[in-house]
Amino acid sequence: MPSHKLPTPESTHQEAPFEVFGYAPAPESTSIVSLAERYDCFINGEFTPPHSGSYFPTINPSTEEVLAQVALGDSADVDRAVTAAAAAFPAWSGLTPGERARYLFRIARIIQERSRELAVLETMDGGKPIKESRDVDLPLVAAHFFYYAGWADKLEWAFPGATLRPLGVCGQIIPWNFPLLMLAWKIAPALATGNTVVLKPAETTPLTALFFADICQQADLPPGVVNIVTGAGQTGQALVEHPQVAKIAFTGSTEVGKIIQKSLAGRGTHLSLELGGKAANIVFDDAPLDQAVEGIINGIYFNQGHVCCAGSRLLVEESVAGILLEKLRSRMMTLRVGNPLDKNTDVGAINSKMQLEKIEELVLSGVAEGADLFQTPCTLPDKGFWFPPTVLSGVAQSSRVVREEIFGPVLSVLTFRTPEEAVEKANNTPYGLSAGIWTDKGSRILWMSNHLRAGVIWANTYNRFDPTAPFGGYKESGFGREGGLHGLLPYVEISR
Ligand code: NAI
Ligand code: MG
Repeated sequence: MPSHKLPTPESTHQEAPFEVFGYAPAPESTSIVSLAERYDCFINGEFTPPHSGSYFPTINPSTEEVLAQVALGDSADVDRAVTAAAAAFPAWSGLTPGERARYLFRIARIIQERSRELAVLETMDGGKPIKESRDVDLPLVAAHFFYYAGWADKLEWAFPGATLRPLGVCGQIIPWNFPLLMLAWKIAPALATGNTVVLKPAETTPLTALFFADICQQADLPPGVVNIVTGAGQTGQALVEHPQVAKIAFTGSTEVGKIIQKSLAGRGTHLSLELGGKAANIVFDDAPLDQAVEGIINGIYFNQGHVCCAGSRLLVEESVAGILLEKLRSRMMTLRVGNPLDKNTDVGAINSKMQLEKIEELVLSGVAEGADLFQTPCTLPDKGFWFPPTVLSGVAQSSRVVREEIFGPVLSVLTFRTPEEAVEKANNTPYGLSAGIWTDKGSRILWMSNHLRAGVIWANTYNRFDPTAPFGGYKESGFGREGGLHGLLPYVEISR
């Protein structure tokens, strides 16, 4: 750990170029969410106490207040859940596709009906701004269920001439940055193709998955089709190691992805991995700079930068670097950091203390390596976990903050002179999940996209998601695609 202390935001900030007007607080009411004191595992259609008898707290990271106690599932609970899912598989996969679609449509509609409740809960448990959980996460969650409901009875046309067979019990392990959305990305295609599921949510954000369990009951989903076992890494590991699991789908860190891949080696279990990223957001001198600034802001400060495809490395053409950074800083001054439940908030709380410490350590290392630090001057709440929007410029390709995934509101800035140099720098990373290109020239967009080694490339926009578009990575960002027609493939055996 470097010995440097981070300068306080006040000492680094530049004067705002104009007076930033204040907003009166506009907090979203939490009364729509009714939380129980504790939650059990959801196995075979029922909430059942964990074998260990132990529970762990999940907190609101913006207040550090305990929201509920959640079951600590162990290998016995995982075994019960997998057994239930295996027992439910013949009947579920044997339903007519139209009947399966009906369940998925029903789930999608209930999600829409309960979307305000789920959005508020997502924000309480994870710290993301309500305007994101309300306007981005929840609409996308419902859209994923609607989209895959639509495929359920059209699978014979998805891959003409091929026969698709479901795999069986799918073990799905998800992270804390988009808890309900990652659940939707996992569960919707699995069920549409006739599989049954055991899902393990992340330990800091289990609550919306447990509310989803309630939605499964509300939708009269047959018992055992969806099972949810809460817990931490060991619970996930028990799911990975269970011999009756036919497929593991994992989203999370590259480190854990590698552990899972090793543990499955030689077992023939299907696997898809969606891991980390260190995306280049590349701005050419002919780009509409104000629009690019919005894309840079969205790329790195959306969801506090807890985004695997975050545009965490800004690559800007040298001739416009000065003006772009000036515009970026003044736009950053308007970002409102604070209470995630406030409808005016742009940047919410860091998801956990552990994640905050990781961000702090990496930013300190950047400063120690000579980076210029810019942070917006904002008064951070006393309680909870917070990190101000940050830019590190003057960094080298070899710097840790350029190479490692920070997973926080921290942008590293590099410059380039030619498209070839931009491509070389962009691809100089073990990751390959996403990239952004900002330029006026269509031919350059096509040339760059052909040379960038990234699964998702946005042109003159960033962080756009749609259930019809496949998403996934290259290299250490993982393999397998989620979303779109491609998103069906990880959940079927295909024969022609
Ligand atoms: P993680 O990879 O440990 O957690 C993701 C999920 O995997 C959680 O549900 C966790 O309980 C589970 N898990 C942990 N160890 C496991 C094991 N051995 N077997 C099976 N499941 C296991 O991520 P963590 O520690 O929360 O975050 C660390 C870093 O990972 C972040 O700072 C970020 O850089 C990266 N990350 C990337 C994500 C992405 O979407 N690509 C999501 C979350 C974290
Ligand atoms: Mg929590």
